[in-house]
Amino acid sequence: MFSRDPEGSVEQIDWGVARERMILDPTVTMLNTGSFGPLPQPVFDRVTELRLKLAAGPTDFFVRQAPPLLWESRERTATFLGTVAQRLVFTTNVSAAINLVASGLRLNAPGEILMSDHEYGAMIWCWERVAQRQGLTIRTFPLPTMASDPAEIVEAAKRAMTPRTRLLFFSHVLSPTGLVLPAKELCAEARKRGILSVVDGAHAPVYVPLNVSDVNADFYTANLHKWLLAPSGAGFLVIGPGNEDRLQPLHVSWGYHADKYPIGEVTKSSGPDGRDGYGSTPRIRFLEFEGTRDFCPWLAVPAAIDFQTSLGFDNVRGRIAELAAYTRRVIGDTGLSLATPSTLGMCGAMTAFNLPPGASAPKLRKDLWARRVEIPVIERPDRLLLRVSHHFYTTEAEIDRLAEVVREVLRV
Ligand SMILES: Cc1ncc(COP(=O)(O)O)c(C=O)c1O
Repeated sequence: MFSRDPEGSVEQIDWGVARERMILDPTVTMLNTGSFGPLPQPVFDRVTELRLKLAAGPTDFFVRQAPPLLWESRERTATFLGTVAQRLVFTTNVSAAINLVASGLRLNAPGEILMSDHEYGAMIWCWERVAQRQGLTIRTFPLPTMASDPAEIVEAAKRAMTPRTRLLFFSHVLSPTGLVLPAKELCAEARKRGILSVVDGAHAPVYVPLNVSDVNADFYTANLHKWLLAPSGAGFLVIGPGNEDRLQPLHVSWGYHADKYPIGEVTKSSGPDGRDGYGSTPRIRFLEFEGTRDFCPWLAVPAAIDFQTSLGFDNVRGRIAELAAYTRRVIGDTGLSLATPSTLGMCGAMTAFNLPPGASAPKLRKDLWARRVEIPVIERPDRLLLRVSHHFYTTEAEIDRLAEVVREVLRV
């Protein structure tokens, strides 16, 4: 898979060989990692190995085998994300993480929850329910989505913050277009004004060189099943400094009273952040433990980290940038206009294009899938978008195929 370049030091990766390690349906042009990541073979093997152990001896697995694996995964994942195990709550996905924060926080009413106008639909509903229950209002601010400088986005958010703003919610990477928001600067502006920041980083791990401590959100949430290529069922919440005691769990289970779980080896941890006998700390387990469930996806996260580490995350992002440039050129040549800026640091592994006015989303979806092209058509209030995902295993031939299909289905 690797070869030395003629200068000797830099490793050249044969991306075709790397792709062969992915489990992909060969009959599909797969351009939708942004929704769900496929699995590398070693990650599938690891999660399957764990599930076999769980199937064969559930008590031994849950009580004896899993706790040290869970702690190891927590430490490895935390290091990968730039945080510490004591702040990392594993969740099923980013939706669960946002729900945990939204349901567990008490905000001062009256006041408002502020968010951009490009948030993910289900997460908007989540905050709408919070607003309704807690007597707050929701306000959205328009994002300059084709900004050429991240400062324009910070300015737009600053203009929207008022003394009534209790919480700022935004995506680190926008779902419709893949635009990267200046998360660190947005959180800093919120903090200056006493506003809590909650970041939906659904796409951020791998997509950006993420350091969660540096972003410094009050609550940072994300998925590991997208760009990290961990199994479905792996997401997380990182609790920012000063917020350790702010949340209540979504599920009340045995973590609710740290010292009273009747099964297994109860090791007394040293305080709320000390490692316990369950692969957690009392503070983490309070929020994380949901009763009996299959958490093998969490335990397989180190295999996903190892897989892309073996390619090199900078190499992966370099390959993604090459594919983004290729996508902009080849799909741009079909006549579709770009909906994602190409400024370095503001774009990544998703590139969106405006579809012509009058196009029908259901018809396009049907026509694209009829040709075995897996790509989302995204409905925005004023237009339709075609969002191309290109991870390291995407090939130029797949982008060429998309261009051919776009010409056919749109007759451009
Ligand atoms: C920005 C954003 N937030 C939240 C989600 C929800 O992700 P999940 O269904 O894994 O919780 C997505 C999914 O694509 C997303 O793009």
